[in-house]
Amino acid sequence: MEYGLFDNKAKEFIINKYDTERPWINYISNGSYCSLISQTGGGYSFWREPKFNRITKHRYDNIPQDRPGKYLYFRDMESGEYWSNGWQPVMKEPEAWQARHGLGYSVITSTYNKISTSASYFVPGQEDMEVWIIKITNNDSKTRKIKVTPYVEFSLFNALDEYLSYPNLRFFCDAEYSKDLNAILYFMHHHSWMNLGKVFMGLSIPISNVTMDRRLFLGKYGSETNPEVIITGKADSKPVYGSDCVGAPEVDLDLKPGQSIEFTVMLGVDNNKPGRVKELMTKYSNVDTAKKEMQAVKSKWESLLGNFHINCPDQDINDMSNIWHQYQLKVTFDWSRWASYYHTGTSSGIGFRDTNQDSLGMLHIAPELVRDKILLLAKNMYEDGHSYHSFFPEGGVADDRKYGDDHIWINTSTYHYICETGDLSILDEVVPFIEGSTGTLFEHLVRSIEYALTVTGHHGLPKMFFADWNDCLNNICLKEKGEKGVSVMVAQQAYQFGNYLLQLAKWSKKEERVKELPAKLENLKKVLNDVTWDGEWYTRAYTDEGRVIGGKESGEGQIFLNTQSWAVFANVADKEKGEKCMDSVYTLLNSEYGIKLLHPPFTSFPMDIGSTIHYPAGIKENAGIFCHANTWAIIAETLLNRGERAMQYYKQILPPLVAKKIGYDRYRVEPYVYCQFITGPDHQNHGAASHSWLTGTAVWTFVALSQYILGVKPTLDGLIVNPCIPKDWPGFEVNRKFRGAEYEIKVKNPNKVNSGVKKITLNGKELSSNVIPVQPAGSKNLVEVELG
Ligand code: GLC
Repeated sequence: MEYGLFDNKAKEFIINKYDTERPWINYISNGSYCSLISQTGGGYSFWREPKFNRITKHRYDNIPQDRPGKYLYFRDMESGEYWSNGWQPVMKEPEAWQARHGLGYSVITSTYNKISTSASYFVPGQEDMEVWIIKITNNDSKTRKIKVTPYVEFSLFNALDEYLSYPNLRFFCDAEYSKDLNAILYFMHHHSWMNLGKVFMGLSIPISNVTMDRRLFLGKYGSETNPEVIITGKADSKPVYGSDCVGAPEVDLDLKPGQSIEFTVMLGVDNNKPGRVKELMTKYSNVDTAKKEMQAVKSKWESLLGNFHINCPDQDINDMSNIWHQYQLKVTFDWSRWASYYHTGTSSGIGFRDTNQDSLGMLHIAPELVRDKILLLAKNMYEDGHSYHSFFPEGGVADDRKYGDDHIWINTSTYHYICETGDLSILDEVVPFIEGSTGTLFEHLVRSIEYALTVTGHHGLPKMFFADWNDCLNNICLKEKGEKGVSVMVAQQAYQFGNYLLQLAKWSKKEERVKELPAKLENLKKVLNDVTWDGEWYTRAYTDEGRVIGGKESGEGQIFLNTQSWAVFANVADKEKGEKCMDSVYTLLNSEYGIKLLHPPFTSFPMDIGSTIHYPAGIKENAGIFCHANTWAIIAETLLNRGERAMQYYKQILPPLVAKKIGYDRYRVEPYVYCQFITGPDHQNHGAASHSWLTGTAVWTFVALSQYILGVKPTLDGLIVNPCIPKDWPGFEVNRKFRGAEYEIKVKNPNKVNSGVKKITLNGKELSSNVIPVQPAGSKNLVEVELG
């Protein structure tokens, strides 16, 4: 049954079933304060960064799943009956229920025993807080006395301590009720050392009572399903000093027949600023102001997502691309692989390679944010050209393990940033290296490529070190020192990124600094084709001992997807080899629900592979359908001019489509955002997906669709139009902003071809090539294209 659907008019995703297989969540965030919220009101919040500034708790492996959350309890004071708005946590079957995730907000509505309730959750554009707008309506013919109790469980601010030392550190936690503020204040004894300060949870209407001690709220051996305070209706308002803290303020309402009451719940941080709580609460205690701010958030999102809009013959593609896909691009850009329902927010911060990739998806939305991010990334590079694997921008120990690929990705983000903006000045920005000395961004780029090309192992290919894009190939260089083990994928990427660097050098007249690079790159390409071509596909890696991984003789892991698509994408393969290796992908790796990462899966535990082998066959990096890697196969097929296959690959992993095909229950995760992997055909749960939201799949499917299928690609001199579509598409439209000007691009395909621009006009005048020259900022331009 399809219980999830797009409402394109409202720009919302509607969920009509509360007990989805996995929580279907939304990220509600202004880039600083972040709240994750599921369809049942589960989720957690943090401020600025999820490791040290966690506000509310999430138990990643709780039973039942998805607890605790931002709940709303209701108690009928006459009958003693109680329930919750989101279905969780009381789990009593509502008469009516619906959740709607929107741009920057989520709304859960339900009806139970003639009382209708709704909670609209949002994070205002500027303030470090979240607001819940609550509405309760009495549909009964008699007056109803209802107690409403919003509820959260507070977290240790240091989320890692939650796992490592909670039994001890719980004694750091205090909570007090301020009658004056009409709010609960939660804090650590030593909170004044912390930027976060105190957490507040206040209401816009008078609180009648509060409970702040978890034991007292839940009761002995109680849970959120049957809290003692809700069952008995008797709160305990004692402050808490050194124990488990919750926020459970109560309001007692007498609702006449037909009457509705609205109020707000405000949860946020005071940043140690005296008067801050009062200031925020005064503003958001006004329900109308709160509603206006929520509308402002929605409008802001609408304008952010207005820079790119498509209309193609396939409604599933339009549904996904115009709203949710782009929303996900911003979420991944903001939160990397940091905190989700699948990442605890404690182990890694901003991933160097991940963020360079995520940047590509933000270029059309907010390129100025990408500029800042590239410069931030550059600061996390060593003088020799390699970089941290991941780091915490607010402080904390970076992951210093050396990977073969991390550092070189900065070339692609910078190259694409300059294509989008024309801003060559970024190359001259002076940025410190980790050691303290400084260099221009250009110098950072040069050193990263030099590092890959000079620190080499077998066959003169770049060393793999700990791993490459595939984090789980981490025993190729068994000792992590990478004596000789090399990565073919890194070599292919170095070829592409090195060529980007050459372009940048040319555009900024810095060729002198890289004068030896062209020859080195051509030599690399030669080695790749002489040594790593295995007859029908490219190999994947060579271990320290020299064993070939991903070759015909390799046994398990005989063919890997990435080195086929990257051979084409990076222009390492000629047409013949490109077609051959991508045909091998189709024959050996493709399945109904996407392309497997490798074949055959590892089942005999070869010790020179890495943690891939710990996953059962078909899961994640061990022959799972790693969606992120599928995207490069889409791009490769467009470069081979095979529009049908590119579209097939694209649609195989398009969330709303694949979820419907597999069945929502079997697919499990949200059908409105991309996920990291779908379980492969070698596993009994083929089709089950996981790790939704924070994944490189989001950015690369967007690049694949916008730049390679629809073929509208920014370059320094303007927008190139070079589509590769299925022959039976009659055409499509793209509306795109580029350097401040608007372009309405209408493509017609009367000759039923995959590609080839026969005629292109700009504002009625025919162009001599398919590059639309940059038009003045503020102008509106009509581009008409005929394929043939
Ligand atoms: C995860 C990581 C990403 C890596 C991929 C494959 O998505 O975030 O950096 O490339 O797994 O291992």
